[in-house]
Amino acid sequence: MGFTIAIDGPAAAGKGTLSKAIAAHFDFAHLDTGLLYRAVGAKTLLGVQPLDAALKLVAADMEDTDLRTPEVAQAASKVAIIPEVRAALVDFQRAFGARAGGAVLDGRDIGTVICPEAKVKLYVTASAQVRAERRYLELSAKGDVSTREQVLADVKARDARDMERVEAPLKPADDAVLIDTSDLSIADAIAQAIGVIEAHTGE
Ligand code: C5P
Repeated sequence: MGFTIAIDGPAAAGKGTLSKAIAAHFDFAHLDTGLLYRAVGAKTLLGVQPLDAALKLVAADMEDTDLRTPEVAQAASKVAIIPEVRAALVDFQRAFGARAGGAVLDGRDIGTVICPEAKVKLYVTASAQVRAERRYLELSAKGDVSTREQVLADVKARDARDMERVEAPLKPADDAVLIDTSDLSIADAIAQAIGVIEAHTGE
């Protein structure tokens, strides 16, 4: 039987990798909700009004291959402050979370706002230095020329915007289990997360 798994945490903490592995393990569908905000952010860089972009968002917009750039990440966290933009994206995410076959959603407000009834909530984090180093390696492998300092500054700016906004700020839900991946290998982080989920559900 399916259930909902909510995974939140700051940028580059390892949520994406963990979410995909967890979804594959339980054979659940996976939604990276950051892509919704990135798709809206990318449209604003082309001059579209944020709310207009959010209201007209279609699945194909999330398949844009340029959504993983630092510019789009910053634009995403700026549109994510706007309550009306967040409200426009709620129904799609909640419907995804309610899938009968089970769903893993990762983002910033899944356990607190989108799926407060999720059976398991994880809050995945790591130190800003570790997260910036991971993002730096990821970006340089793709040919991006950002320096370590720029990537760390970007990560910190996004953390501040995500944690300090009024609407749906990034924070662990009261009943979330914290996983700090700073000193964990990917395999260990996945094993820890699956262990937590199994302990909660008996699956
Ligand atoms: O997870 P990702 O880095 O792709 O998210 C991009 C931005 O989208 C975040 O920095 C955050 O501002 C926003 N976001 C959000 N709520 C979510 C997912 C992402 O506000 N559930």
